[in-house]
Amino acid sequence: MKEKQPDISNDTPDPVAPADLREPLIVIASNRGPYSFKRNEDGQYNVQRGAGGLVTALAALAERHQVLWVAAALSEDDRAWVQQRDRSPQNVEGILLQLFEPDKVAYDKFYNQIANPLLWFIQHQLWDTPRYPSIDGDTWDAWHNGYVAINRQFADAIVASVKASSDKRPVLILPQDYQLYLVPQLVREQLGEQVQIQPFCHIPWPGPDAWRILPAEMRDQLLHGLLASDRVGFQTRKDAFNFVQTCRFYLPDAHSRGSRSTIHYQDRNIEAKAYPISVDVEKVESIAEEMETRLFKNQLINSIGDSRLILRTDRVEPSKNILRSLQAFRLLLERYPEHRGKVKMLTLLVPSRMEVGEYITYLKEITAEASLIDADFSDGFWEPVRLIFGDNYHRAIAAMQLYDVLMVNPLADGMNLVAKEGVLVNQRDGVLLLSEYAGAFYELGDQAMTVSPFDIHSTAEILHQALTMPAEEKSRRAEALRSQVRHASVKLWFKTQVDDALAGLRQTHDPS
Ligand code: G6P
Repeated sequence: MKEKQPDISNDTPDPVAPADLREPLIVIASNRGPYSFKRNEDGQYNVQRGAGGLVTALAALAERHQVLWVAAALSEDDRAWVQQRDRSPQNVEGILLQLFEPDKVAYDKFYNQIANPLLWFIQHQLWDTPRYPSIDGDTWDAWHNGYVAINRQFADAIVASVKASSDKRPVLILPQDYQLYLVPQLVREQLGEQVQIQPFCHIPWPGPDAWRILPAEMRDQLLHGLLASDRVGFQTRKDAFNFVQTCRFYLPDAHSRGSRSTIHYQDRNIEAKAYPISVDVEKVESIAEEMETRLFKNQLINSIGDSRLILRTDRVEPSKNILRSLQAFRLLLERYPEHRGKVKMLTLLVPSRMEVGEYITYLKEITAEASLIDADFSDGFWEPVRLIFGDNYHRAIAAMQLYDVLMVNPLADGMNLVAKEGVLVNQRDGVLLLSEYAGAFYELGDQAMTVSPFDIHSTAEILHQALTMPAEEKSRRAEALRSQVRHASVKLWFKTQVDDALAGLRQTHDPS
C-alpha cells in the first residue's frame, strides 16, 4: 500500500558525511525516492519520508551501510530543492540522496504509458487482450523517447554519482523494480564488470506467455537489459523460475545449464533468486502504539460499534481485486442473512495513478458497487459497506488492529505488505483471507484461509467460515502468523541481498 509518514524534519539536511573507505558503496536506484520535499511559506523545505512499500522497506538499511540513493525528482518542489543545492547529493537521515531531474516530456511517456500501465498490466496479467493493449505509434514513441530515454538518464545519474563518490571502494548497484529494467545494461556499459549489479523486481514476474504482449524488440531489449546484472532478485521462487523460463524461451543465447536458477547469457552467469520482502517489524509495532493511531482507533471503534469488521486496505489498483471482494460480501449477505446488521466491510482506499484511465474507471466501479450494496441491504441504521479515501498510515494501522477478517485477495501481487502488517498488529485474533496469487501466500498461506481471487462464490463461503470460526482456532492461526512475520523483518531481506552481492564482489575481485 501507499502510505505517508509525517514530516521528519524541517529543512537543512546535514552536509555530506566523509566516506568510510573500507565500506562498500551501496547504490540504490528507484523511480520514487525515499524522501520528497515540500516548500513551506517561509521558503524552507519540509522533508517527508516517502510513500510505498519499497521506501518503507529500504529505510532500514542506512543503519548498517553507506548508502547512496539515486531517484527522480518528481514534483516541482523536489526539482527546486535539488537546484537550490547545486544538484549535489545531500545527507538525509544518514542516506546520501541524489535526486536528478528527468526530462518532463520523456518522463510522462515513461511513467504513464510504459511503466504504468503497459509493464504493470503485463506483469499482473490485467490486460483484457481481445481489446487492449494496442501497441501503436504512440506506444513505440513512448518506448524509445520515454522508457529507454529515462532509463538512460537514470543510468547516467548513477554512473556520475558512483564516479564522484566511490573513491575506489567496491560498489554494489541495486536498481529497484519494473521502471528500471534497462539500467543494469546501461550502467554495465559504462562501469564494466567490477561493479555488482543486482536489481530487485517487486512485482510478479509472469511466465513466458504473458510477455507475448510486448513486441519482440521491446521484450528482448528489456530482458537483455536485466541480463547485464550479476543476480536478479524476485519476491518468490515462482517469480525467479518464471524469469529464467522467459529468458530461455525468448532469447536464443540464454541457457540454464542444469540449474533452474542460473542463466548463462553472452559469456556471463546470472542468478535469479528469491528474497521475500517484509515489513519493518519494530517500526510498524511502534506506530501501532502512537497517540495518533490510538485516536483513529477510538474513532473507528465508535463507528463500528458492536459489528464484526471485515477490512481491506489498498491503493485503488485493479490488481488488488477490490471489486470482487465487494461482490463476495454482497453474496455473503444474500446467503447468510444472519450477518446482516452484525458485520461491516470497511475499505480504506488510497487513490493512485489517476492519470491512467483504467484506474479512474476502476475507482468508479468500486464506488458504484459499494453504494448499491448499501442501498440494497442497509436498514437505515446499519451501514454494511464504508469506503474511506485518503493516504493515512496511522488510520490504516488502527483499522488493522481491529479487524475480525482481513481481506487480501489480489489477482496478482508481488508480496502484499498489508497481509504482513495486518497480522503483526491485529488485536482480535482476526482471520487472514489470502489470495493464492499474493507473494505473501508462500509464507503465510498455511495459517491463512486461501481464496481464489476470481471465485466470488467460494470467497463468500470462506468469509462466512472466517466469521464463525471457533475462538481457539482463530487464536492459534493468528499467533502463528504473527510469529512468522516477526521472524523475517525487512532488515533481513536487505541484509541477505547485500551479503549475496558482497560475496559476488569478492568473487569478481578474487576469483580464486
Ligand atoms: C507499488 C508496488 C511497487 C512499485 C510502486 C510504484 O508500491 O508495490 O513495486 O514500485 O507501486 O508506485 P508509484 O506510485 O511510485 O508509481
